[in-house]
Amino acid sequence: METMKRTKIRELLASKEIGKEVNVKGWVRTKRGNKNVAFIALNDGSTIHSIQIVIDVAGFNPDDLKLVTTGACINVNGILVESQGSGQAVEIQATTLEVYGTADADTYPLQKKGHTLEFLREIAHLRPRTNTFGAVLRVRHNMAYAIHKYYNDRGFVYLHTPIITGSDAEGAGAMFKVTALDLDNLPRTEEGAINYKEDFFGKSTNLTVSGQLEGELGAMALSEIYTFGPTFRAENSNTPRHLAEFWMIEPEMAFYDIKDNMDLAEDFIKYLVKYALENCKDDLEFLNKMYDNELIERLTFVTNNAFKRLTYTEAVEILLASGQKFEFPVAWGIDLQSEHERYLVEKVFNCPVILTDYPKEIKAFYMKQNEDGKTVRAMDVLFPKIGEIIGGSQREENYDKLLARIQELHIPEKDMWWYLDTRRFGAAPHSGFGLGFERLILFVTGMANIRDVIPFPRTPQNAEF
Ligand code: 4AD
Ligand code: MG
Repeated sequence: METMKRTKIRELLASKEIGKEVNVKGWVRTKRGNKNVAFIALNDGSTIHSIQIVIDVAGFNPDDLKLVTTGACINVNGILVESQGSGQAVEIQATTLEVYGTADADTYPLQKKGHTLEFLREIAHLRPRTNTFGAVLRVRHNMAYAIHKYYNDRGFVYLHTPIITGSDAEGAGAMFKVTALDLDNLPRTEEGAINYKEDFFGKSTNLTVSGQLEGELGAMALSEIYTFGPTFRAENSNTPRHLAEFWMIEPEMAFYDIKDNMDLAEDFIKYLVKYALENCKDDLEFLNKMYDNELIERLTFVTNNAFKRLTYTEAVEILLASGQKFEFPVAWGIDLQSEHERYLVEKVFNCPVILTDYPKEIKAFYMKQNEDGKTVRAMDVLFPKIGEIIGGSQREENYDKLLARIQELHIPEKDMWWYLDTRRFGAAPHSGFGLGFERLILFVTGMANIRDVIPFPRTPQNAEF
């Protein structure tokens, strides 16, 4: 078949060049027709929309046409013509057709439409070919791009923090071990413990739960940095909002107090949601229609309304006074559960909420201690349908106070000397937060399960693909 430069379907559907000879390649979504003419809906992932290929059967090899089934990959030359049918402006009148790869109708799992999301999780290697996952993955890409654009436009430096870490001090969750030791023949110390001195790094190492601690080192030199990378938590939380491997964006800023931190978090999320509304219109309209009729309305609302800000203590008082029965009873000092967070967001305020000044016992050692001796300058951003989407704080920059907290919590000081050094040399007030990327994508797409917004989810008992 004659080689012609391929045009993406997204571009063809917007093209006004009627009569032009074009080449298109993609995967067959459906084929219908009669003995004279066949209509193929072809999709190449560049847009949610498929383009219609019209085949005058007489001009083609019947054996080739038989191979054009749902899921097959084809290469088509043809003429861009005005569409006869409704629903699209243009279609392609095929002149030549080549089948790149067949997809046997009896065994191709996506032969029929309308599979459940649960079933699609079992075929995560093929689900990107569905409209739903095409839409989610394009939105995900656009959000990643918008995150880099947001920080780049504001002079933040993208800092690559390590994925393998020698410290496990963050306390954000259970960690996955990284080792090159032979697990069937572990070297032992005289006391019988595993001898990590003989391991690859000469010490015990893990996959990181957060880039924050290293991010702070960057902020103490570059003023404003952000990280954007994978993080790992080995908790056995089988919920629609937890992954064992998830992506996090962690900005860290010198000279920001907690108020500046909240302002940045609010502006950042609003920017991302607005970016999605402006740049992912077709995909959001599809998701709005198929999964969540209030999606676009909710996204628009978030971009136009101020987030409600209040303290943890005020929130607890509201929850206690609500008369609402919760599965986990409310009392000052508890770690708020998703049901409490969502009650505040969805029933009390009807908008995103930022809670601050949490009890120090339920937050990390590095958060700035308040005058009251009981609370720390933490902030969590809570979203409708999601609960916590961002966690952050102003950091404790006072060496003595930070060290006292490290000792109180029995965090090994030998692991923390480099972190403490930033409080010894040129310490600055600073703040930062972490946005869970998949939680953001949940919110923006309206999907209900976090396994459906990452291409290959890692959850307990699941690392097949
Ligand atoms: O609240 P977290 O644990 O905060 C930190 O890790 C800080 N070091 C961030 C910082 O201040 N730089 O996690 C931050 C966010 C959460 O708000 C949530 O959106 C997301 O990360 N997250 C998860 N997302 C998916 N699966 C999990 N298991 C998650 N755990 C946290
Ligand atoms: Mg948190």
